[in-house]
Amino acid sequence: MSGRVLQSDYMHWAKNQHPVTYALSSSEVAHYPLERLGIAIADLALTGASHYRYRPLREAIGAKEGVPAEWVVAADGTSMANMLAMAALIAPGDEVLVEHPTYEPLLAVARFLGARVTRFARRAEAGFALDPDAVRRAVTPATKAIVLTNLHNPSGALADSAALREIGALGPHVLVDEVYRDAAAAPQRSAVHLGGRFVATSSLTKVYGLSGLRCGWILAEPELAERIWRLNELFAVSQAHADERLSCIALANLDRISEGTQVLLARNRALANAFFASRQELHCAPLAGGITAFPHLLRGDPGTLDALLRDKYDTSIVPGRWFEMPDHFRIGLGGPTPIVEEGLARLGRALDDLS
Ligand SMILES: Cc1ncc(COP(=O)(O)O)c(C=O)c1O
Repeated sequence: MSGRVLQSDYMHWAKNQHPVTYALSSSEVAHYPLERLGIAIADLALTGASHYRYRPLREAIGAKEGVPAEWVVAADGTSMANMLAMAALIAPGDEVLVEHPTYEPLLAVARFLGARVTRFARRAEAGFALDPDAVRRAVTPATKAIVLTNLHNPSGALADSAALREIGALGPHVLVDEVYRDAAAAPQRSAVHLGGRFVATSSLTKVYGLSGLRCGWILAEPELAERIWRLNELFAVSQAHADERLSCIALANLDRISEGTQVLLARNRALANAFFASRQELHCAPLAGGITAFPHLLRGDPGTLDALLRDKYDTSIVPGRWFEMPDHFRIGLGGPTPIVEEGLARLGRALDDLS
């Protein structure tokens, strides 16, 4: 792919698939029922005191992430956060170094902005570990930004902070999409704490079941954060105020909202690990954290597998072609355990059909 990109092909595909019961294609935990938060309509004013750069929300995000409010830019989901962060860092013709495989919209945004995209590999044989040497080899004097995900989408691999620190010392800004970070088996701090070259994006979408809230953010040193706020005056200016209020309530209740999530994810990962170990046609390094897995299908085509799963088994996966690795596929493990368990059983039956 090259030239001006005006869409995300993956997002268009993902949003237009027929819903299925056993959606292993989903990469988030089940939606959190809003009524559990006990919200009154008076909590959701549409207008009122200045909600331009609504400070209570910046403070609440800052408290969660361990940074002052001046380091926080609010955005509609990680999606808009990635767009704003990249638009602030990248000018047309700039070289941008992006991990491979990656979440396709990150590539699409860089290309939309006119960047020259180069790549560094996260190797399947190494469990998709983040390898600072691979990044170092691919960085050139023209590299303006390095873009990666942590946890890694699609594989769920966790980057260790020593590797991130090495990458941060290479010179360019490092944009880390951390939307899956809170699904790590042990708590991880944002990469923004590793130094001023780091910019982190995230939201309450994946781990908290609040994708509809669109509560996202960018963490960046204050001067860059100010540039991103100014840039946002070209895009959205301010966010929906009721949403900002709801986001503050959600952030104040994150412990309650995420109660049981780590236990659920550990249980579902154990099911997936047992499933992978039982299937000769699949290879996947055992999952140690995260919501997603990216197994290698040693025989057969994941696109055909997905079509069969949707047609016959009311089940879905994400074919690896969307991550530029057509012999892999992604599954998500954030659903209720009975759904994940039955989805894996159906995946097994579909694999049997194809063999
Ligand atoms: C790596 C990554 N970033 C961003 C997003 C979008 O998240 P949000 O709902 O916060 O916009 C996704 C969703 O699949 C994702 O996988």
